[in-house]
Amino acid sequence: MDKIRIRGGQPLKGEIVISGAKNAALPLMAASLLTEETLRLTNLPDLADISFMAHILSEHGVGVYLNGNAQGSGYSNRLVELTAGRITSTRASYDLVRKMRASVLVLGPLLAREGHAEVSLPGGCAIGQRPIDLHLSALEALGAEIELLEGYIVAKAPKGLKGAEVVFPKVSVGATENLLMAASLAQGTTRIVNAAREPEISDLADCLNKMGARITGIGGGTLTVEGVARLHGAEHAVVADRIEAGTFAMAAAITDGELELLGARAEHLGAVIEVLEAAGVTLRESNRGLSVKRANGRLSAATVETAPFPGFPTDLQAQLMALMSTAEGTSEVTESIFENRFMHVPELCRMGAHIEVKGSKATIHGCPRLNGAEVMATDLRASVSMILAGLVAEGETLMNRVYHLDRGYEHVERKLADCGADIERLKT
Ligand code: UD1
Repeated sequence: MDKIRIRGGQPLKGEIVISGAKNAALPLMAASLLTEETLRLTNLPDLADISFMAHILSEHGVGVYLNGNAQGSGYSNRLVELTAGRITSTRASYDLVRKMRASVLVLGPLLAREGHAEVSLPGGCAIGQRPIDLHLSALEALGAEIELLEGYIVAKAPKGLKGAEVVFPKVSVGATENLLMAASLAQGTTRIVNAAREPEISDLADCLNKMGARITGIGGGTLTVEGVARLHGAEHAVVADRIEAGTFAMAAAITDGELELLGARAEHLGAVIEVLEAAGVTLRESNRGLSVKRANGRLSAATVETAPFPGFPTDLQAQLMALMSTAEGTSEVTESIFENRFMHVPELCRMGAHIEVKGSKATIHGCPRLNGAEVMATDLRASVSMILAGLVAEGETLMNRVYHLDRGYEHVERKLADCGADIERLKT
C-alpha cells in the first residue's frame, strides 16, 4: 500500500488548479440514469470514487466512456459520457454500496425512470451512522412504496411518482439530490422545503435543467420542480471543488506561503472566508480564482461550528483543526453534522498538537511547532489534515493508508510538490 512522506518547513508558493468536485460529479453521474440519451460530463476529477461510480452505473446497463487523463497545466480535464439507453438492472448490490455511500444516489433516478429499484442499505461508516431515512421519506412523499427487506431498500412506484411538498426536518445533501432527480421525472410539481443549498446541489439542478428538467429556486432553501415526461442528453462541466480549494487555502496559510487557487470561487466557500480572514489569512478573488496568504505573523485562534452551506463545512473541519494547532491562542471547533468525526485528533496529537475532545467539541491549544510522525489516515478529510500538519512539522511525516486520500484529492502530492512542498508518494 502506498505511503506519503513529507518533510515539513517549506512555504508553498505558486498556482494550483482546483479540480472538479467529487461531491458534485457523483450525483451528476447518477443523473445519467434519468435519460436514454448521452450525458457528457467534463472537468471530472481523476479519483477512485469516480471510477467506482462509473462501475456501479455500468452494472445498471449504462454505457460508460471515460477518458482524458490530465496533462499540462490542469489536472482534471477528464470527461465521461454516460448513456443509459436501456436499464438492464435496477438492483445495486451490498458489495458495491458498502464501498461508497454515495451509491445510494442511484435510488431516486432508478425509481423515477423504471418504477422500481432495489438498493442495499449502505451500513455504518467511519464517521458515524449516517442514516438514510430522509431519502426514503422524501421518495415516499412522492408516492413510492418502500420496504426494507434483507438489508435492501425495495422501492416501487408502479404508476410513477407524483409531485408533492416535501419539508425536510434536517438539511441533507444526499436526500435533496435523490429527491431532485426523482421529482424531475414525477407527474406534477414538487416543492422541496429546507433543501440543502450546497454548490453541488445547484450544479446538479443546473445540469438537470440542461437535460430538460424544470427546476427553479436554485441556490435557495426552497426548490420547485415541475416534473416532465422525459429528459434528454446534455453536456455539463463539473463545478470546481470548494473543499479542495479550502484545503489548499489552509495549506498556504499553515506554511506561511502564498498560493493562487485557479478556478476557486469565494461564493462557494461561504463561512470559510470569514473564518480564515478572522484568523489572519488574506484572500483575494480575481477572475482566475483566489489568492491566499497570511496577513502577517502567526495565525490567531478561531471558534467555529460546522453547519450546512453557507456555514462552515464539516468536510473542512479536520483541516481547520490542523491549522488551529499552530495558531496563537485557544480555538474551539464544534462538529454538529456528524458524530465521531474527530478521528484525526489522536493523530494530530502525535504530531505535537494539543487538542482535547469533549462530546462534539474540540478545544485546540495552539502551539508554535508541530513534529513529524508516522500517522494513519482514517478517512478522507482526516488524512488531508495530517498532510497539512506535515507540511509545517519539523522532521518527517509518514502517512499510511493513503487510499483514503486518493478517494477525494486528485494528485495531492503532485499539486503540493509543484508549489515547493517536500512531499512524495512511496509506492510499495
Ligand atoms: C454529503 C457529502 C459529504 C459531506 C456531507 C455534509 C457527498 C457525496 N458527500 O454527504 O462529503 O460531509 O454531505 O456536508 O456529497 N442524515 C439523516 N438522515 C438521512 C440523511 C442524512 O439523519 O437520511 C443526517 C446525517 O447523518 C448528517 C446530516 O443529516 O448528520 C447531513 O448529512 P448529508 O447532508 O445527508 O450528508 P451526505 O449527503 O451523506
